[in-house]
Amino acid sequence: MLECQAEAFALPKDQHYLNCAYMAPIPRRVERAGIEAIARKRAPAAVTPDDFFRDGEALRSEFADLIHAEDPARVAIIPAASYGLATAARNLPVSRGQRIVTLREQFPSNVYTWTRLAADKGALVTHVEPIAGPDRGRRWNERILEAIDRNTAVVALPHVHWADGTLFDLEAIGRRARDVGAALVIDGTQSVGALPFDVQRIQPDAVICAGYKWLLGPYSIGLAWFGNRFDNGVPLEENWISRRDSHDFAGLVRYRDEYGPGAARYDVGERSNFILVPMLLEALRLLNGWGPEAIQAYCRTISQAIIPAATELGFEVEEAAWRGDHLFGLRLPRGMDPAQLKQAFDARNISVSVRGDAIRISPNVYNATRDAEALVEGLVSHARALA
Ligand SMILES: Cc1ncc(COP(=O)(O)O)c(C=O)c1O
Repeated sequence: MLECQAEAFALPKDQHYLNCAYMAPIPRRVERAGIEAIARKRAPAAVTPDDFFRDGEALRSEFADLIHAEDPARVAIIPAASYGLATAARNLPVSRGQRIVTLREQFPSNVYTWTRLAADKGALVTHVEPIAGPDRGRRWNERILEAIDRNTAVVALPHVHWADGTLFDLEAIGRRARDVGAALVIDGTQSVGALPFDVQRIQPDAVICAGYKWLLGPYSIGLAWFGNRFDNGVPLEENWISRRDSHDFAGLVRYRDEYGPGAARYDVGERSNFILVPMLLEALRLLNGWGPEAIQAYCRTISQAIIPAATELGFEVEEAAWRGDHLFGLRLPRGMDPAQLKQAFDARNISVSVRGDAIRISPNVYNATRDAEALVEGLVSHARALA
């Protein structure tokens, strides 16, 4: 069992930060890696050609380990989830009249990409809706399976819904997508790192992650894994380092038609980013050391210190089987104003997000039960003040 890792982070001691789904605090080690990386730019003569490659390759390996992918060469370095999703959209065949399956209120980067593609190709986007009431999570999953048919070109989903943590059974969805020949594109930004993800079991076609949330990295760098549907695809941009033999700096103008191996063709320009790459690398080493299973189990101890008390106060939460423990929503009792509740939390130094008529709580390994207790006290006192 993982213990509280607050000492690995430098969060202010008086703050109850239950908002990793908004942005992760970077661990101390990651901060140090960033500062050392900035200092190296004082004297560029020490930056060797090998430095353009080494940390990036290590980063691919760590990410492959994290998602149980066999071949690190299938990992690409991206600047944002939208970039990885646009890469996927550019390379998937979609014909007039076909459908792209997404969810209601899915995160916009994983919606606009597909509405643009649909408009360009004369295809249609389905936003599968949940049905409020009992069994909401299970029934939403069922409706997704029903929406995937022979006319589906792409299924573009997260592992958990970004606003309320509803969990999607990606193994079942992956089987259904394969049965009908649809591509499965996963936005893992709100899950990979804190929720186990296994490429071999789910068999997606692409997995896209921004790095600044559950990967505990800095902003503006992320990672993507591309399956063999993408082996001969066209990248969004043509940069020198993605081409074969780019490590031969003296020979760069012997222009090459071939790309480097695997998904390197989909790397963003200046993928060697000498500050962000070592930071994200350090973060992934930490995560792989802890393990997503242990992180999810740790988050369960925090969610369990919140959910029973919250439901007693009339808040509604998704059933355990259909939500994450690292990210879940508390739907407010009728008459309670989310903005007012947020204000009450702010006054107690409790950081959560308001999404629609719910508050989103997203703990991680730096939280302790005292953070859960502070949140419950905040809920109780707010509910009493309204009574
Ligand atoms: C599910 C999900 N995907 C992606 C992102 C970030 O997208 P991008 O990297 O395109 O800014 C977020 C940010 O909140 C998110 O919640």
